[in-house]
Amino acid sequence: TRHLLGIKDLTPADISLLLDTAKQFKEVLQRPIKKVPSLRDVTIVNLFYENSTRTRISFELAEKRLSADTINFSASGSSVSKGETLLDTVNNILSMKVDMVVMRHSASGAPHFLAKHIPASIINAGDGINEHPTQALLDAFSIIEKFGTLNGTRVAIIGDIMHSRVAQSNIYLLTKMGAEVVVCGPPTLIPKYIDQAFNVRVEYNLTKALEWCDVANVLRIQLERQNQVLFSSLREYSLVYGINKRILDSLEKKITIMHPGPINRGVELDSDVADSDQSIILQQVENGVAVRMAVLYLLAGDRNSS
Ligand code: CP
Repeated sequence: TRHLLGIKDLTPADISLLLDTAKQFKEVLQRPIKKVPSLRDVTIVNLFYENSTRTRISFELAEKRLSADTINFSASGSSVSKGETLLDTVNNILSMKVDMVVMRHSASGAPHFLAKHIPASIINAGDGINEHPTQALLDAFSIIEKFGTLNGTRVAIIGDIMHSRVAQSNIYLLTKMGAEVVVCGPPTLIPKYIDQAFNVRVEYNLTKALEWCDVANVLRIQLERQNQVLFSSLREYSLVYGINKRILDSLEKKITIMHPGPINRGVELDSDVADSDQSIILQQVENGVAVRMAVLYLLAGDRNSS
């Protein structure tokens, strides 16, 4: 395929190929000269209709490390404010001979829509509450780096599961690759019947979830995606579901803490946990560049396929 729209449609073999290729690029990134010529003839636009720090910089860096030509587009400051549609915007950019589109959008399905209507490769950099496939790949890469395998590794995904594209992509990927998954959070933030739709277990008690897991992937409350109040206050949330050093120190084993960022410090995660040696949050960010290089490299090779 020439697109990466989500983890949902990938096979375990596809995921393994992406992760193995990322491992090779991580080795390249340890060298004094980090740049390779692989995408010298490829032009990529980073099309961001929603704010981003990590994903956007990580994609741009991955593109530069692969020697691609890159263009950065933010909806704010563009002619989107004059009413130009997504399709018109993209077709205008593509007429300038752009080969690949990395897109973040607040509407679930926006990259799938584009993929149906334009000839370029589309890479989903996060669409609404649907998927964030490169985040799940970099999370998986980071778990493998720490534990050697996904198979049998116990991962607790904690927090706002309902509004999280990171949670959904992680659940697809981890369950396809044989990890054991528990989702934990307030009942109002966990979709009903999630345990029937996916091979995951629901645990409402934070301490029980933490006692069970090897890795806790802690999510941000997505206030920007909630159109109703789903818990009484951030303070109440942090009292019941916030992770602090006291809770971690009470557990029998030393678990690993992950977070996709940005962190709401003092809400879902206290600073003495986020900045501790149990946290691999900045390693996740580092691994994101190698993972995105792998995605771009493999898709660029498949650009002319259907
Ligand atoms: N993890 C993540 O997607 O972060 P940004 O929103 O800053 O890109």
